[in-house]
Amino acid sequence: MDVAQVLHMNEGTSQTSYATNSLIQQKAMSLTKSIKEEAITGVYKTTLASSLAIAELGCSSGPNALFAIQQLIKAVEKLCSKLKRESPEYRIFLNDLPGNDFNGIFKTIDSFKRQLSCEVEGGVGSCFIVGAPGSFYSRIFPAKSLHFVHSSYSLHWLSQVPEGVENNKGNIYISRSSPSNVVKAYYGQFQRDFSSFLKCRAEEVVEGGKMVLTFLGRRSDDPKSKECCYIWDLLAHALNDMVLEGLIKEEQMDGFNLPNYTPSPSEVNLEVVKEGSFTVNHMEVSEVSWKVACGEEDFSDGYGYKVAQCIRAVYEPLVVSHFGEAIVEHVFRQYQEILADRMLKENTVSINVTVSMTKLN
Ligand SMILES: C[S@@+](CC[C@H](N)C(=O)[O-])C[C@H]1O[C@@H](n2cnc3c(N)ncnc32)[C@H](O)[C@@H]1O
Repeated sequence: MDVAQVLHMNEGTSQTSYATNSLIQQKAMSLTKSIKEEAITGVYKTTLASSLAIAELGCSSGPNALFAIQQLIKAVEKLCSKLKRESPEYRIFLNDLPGNDFNGIFKTIDSFKRQLSCEVEGGVGSCFIVGAPGSFYSRIFPAKSLHFVHSSYSLHWLSQVPEGVENNKGNIYISRSSPSNVVKAYYGQFQRDFSSFLKCRAEEVVEGGKMVLTFLGRRSDDPKSKECCYIWDLLAHALNDMVLEGLIKEEQMDGFNLPNYTPSPSEVNLEVVKEGSFTVNHMEVSEVSWKVACGEEDFSDGYGYKVAQCIRAVYEPLVVSHFGEAIVEHVFRQYQEILADRMLKENTVSINVTVSMTKLN
């Protein structure tokens, strides 16, 4: 699977789009508001830059693409008003892979700016927003051009499915029954990818600049822990049921592994320390209940539908590329039923690992 070519969240604003089904990810961004505010105001106080360059990496499309950006701008504006300083101008770079629905975001930029000026007393500094397509595992920006980098729920995407996981039978990610070589291969891929990410950003971020990164991760040091594997175990369950029904070939199922890795805080910290260009200021773990996927709506028939839609909005392109279009409705209907049953019986959550760091000289 060529991840950079195949991966994109479901585009547009339909029932199955990412824009309509990304409340879990939005909640995660709300939970890290104060960490981001502390970091961006720290950068502004030390640089007093008249033009602040901020990158949102893995922005996707829909309301989340500019969600953190509005939090960051509001924090800087509040500080400027306290310091009685003129607002800086903002250069905002929205990055994702080339298949992302960038046009979907561009259509919302005018209303985003209007709303921001209404919500901030006295208005905000000029805001220039551009798209920056490309993989964040390579260079995207000129040297020393960024003051602040934010990314949420994107860095658990690897650049590729690790090599040597062919014996991960019946699973689509690390699971209890995964052989040890599979766990090792996934961790090795994460280490290589995250280290490349840090090297590239080290070139692009100015001295004293900061990054706040939130991973879909885990608390535990055990990569097979249920807290990080369960959502995909249940998707594997749906696919395995379809193998038994003869709708999917066993070899097809065995050849499907996800390009994801959900790191622990210590695994994230270790890579930052090893790479050496940034110092960690703060590390935090938070959790989001899967029920958040339903928003304010009351689902008397259970939460399965909305959580399945949320996962479908993210994984449908990968499922279609591997298994074909014909089975996709069936996969996510089966998944919905399994989720509905599990969520009635247990409290299911996603774990977020957030790290805030500063670029050293
Ligand atoms: C689950 S979405 C998260 C989007 C948004 N940040 C949020 O919190 O709602 C993950 C995004 O990361 C992007 N992504 C994954 N790997 C990437 C890479 N190597 N370079 C750039 N973007 C990537 C995906 O295309 C996707 O849009």
